Amino acid sequence: MKKTLFAFIVSMTSLSSFAQHPANHCGAEYISQQLIANNPEFVKTQNQLEEFTRNFVEQQQNAKKTRATVYKIPIVVHVIHNGESIGSGANVSVAQINSQIAVLNKDYRLLNTDSLKKTHAFWPVTDDCEITFCLASLDPSGKFTTGIDRVNGGQASYDYPELETSIKPSTIWDHTKYLNMWVCKFGGSASTLLGYATPPGASATNDGVVIGTTNFGNVGNVVAPYHKGRTATHEIGHFFNLRHIWGDALCGDDLVSDTAPAEQDNYGCPSFPYNANSSCGSNANGEMFMNYMDYTDDACMVMFTTGQKNRMRATLTSGGSRSSLTSSLGCTWPVGITELSSELNVSIFPNPSIDYFYISNTAGFGYDFSIQLLNSIGQDVSSQISASKENSGRYYINSSALANGTYFVKVYSNSKSITKSLTIIK
Ligand code: ARG
Ligand code: ZN
Ligand code: CA
Repeated sequence: MKKTLFAFIVSMTSLSSFAQHPANHCGAEYISQQLIANNPEFVKTQNQLEEFTRNFVEQQQNAKKTRATVYKIPIVVHVIHNGESIGSGANVSVAQINSQIAVLNKDYRLLNTDSLKKTHAFWPVTDDCEITFCLASLDPSGKFTTGIDRVNGGQASYDYPELETSIKPSTIWDHTKYLNMWVCKFGGSASTLLGYATPPGASATNDGVVIGTTNFGNVGNVVAPYHKGRTATHEIGHFFNLRHIWGDALCGDDLVSDTAPAEQDNYGCPSFPYNANSSCGSNANGEMFMNYMDYTDDACMVMFTTGQKNRMRATLTSGGSRSSLTSSLGCTWPVGITELSSELNVSIFPNPSIDYFYISNTAGFGYDFSIQLLNSIGQDVSSQISASKENSGRYYINSSALANGTYFVKVYSNSKSITKSLTIIK
């Protein structure tokens, strides 16, 4: 009995430690509390979810080296702005949006170049989550989309109440088919937030992640030290049922066995080993402050563990609470889209090309568009190219990974597309 009381006091103390770090307060905890308070069913479904998760993780434990199915999750980015032109202020640019998707595709595939070295003590538990993301190319009604939904919310900044009661419910796309991501400038009581997420089991009108404009992606309107796109990596971890590494209590439990015990949230960029042999039971390697589910700087959070991977994948596996996302058509391309070449007025050069080519149009791409590359038998090879915008408004496409041959470059915008053929010779 005494023990219980002690644990309770301790966890209250650690909750109030959030107040000492307002600059990095996590919204996920707030959302869980709201769900618990307003929805008795939530607690029940959370308990069922935990049991399902435990079973799945147990099954996976011996399977670490078995490479799993790579899941692909469609994301819709709702850009909530205040009437700014595209690319300025809260109305973030296409390049900034693409940079966030690119960061996620690195972090969730262990392709991040700042990963731990193979000699690091935590390398053996570092893992590839085998989850990838696309900006949606098919919308809920089956039409082409850029995956970017720009909404003038009529405010310079947004607090929880507007977001939860108005912005999210009025803009959300079917949460069983899309991971909804809102990007906005936070204000009021949310002004120090970097982002927040709903856990599995949240309501159909509010499910998804919200990221602050200045911590979204790694180019454009971003501000250090949260300028490398890791806020979305962290929030999507919550969306897939991960908890903070310190379990949101002093020496709390994140329900993951291979993340080291941690006293509390860490900030900045500690040096390894940090808090070794602590009272919580960390060993000589100390705490795993470089985990995406801690609160350290973007430049210093670089890994998920196998246990976290299994917990996340439990939501995506058959029967899991988010498994419907894995069979969504959101990442596929529409057929029969109107070809309207003159309006899009796109040119591709040089053609034939060797390792790169440019795409330009008369408008300098001031609008949202997507580029798809098909090989000569119609297979989508878009993942093998990378695009970057130049000041002149044209796009530089690195195609060095592609073999010789004939390709089709499709540029889509507003339910229109143009297809051009491209030859690659080396
Ligand atoms: N504190 C953030 C939140 O509101 C997440 C931490 C993100 N940390 C980071 N380095 N981007 O959930
Ligand atoms: Zn968090
Ligand atoms: Ca743990």
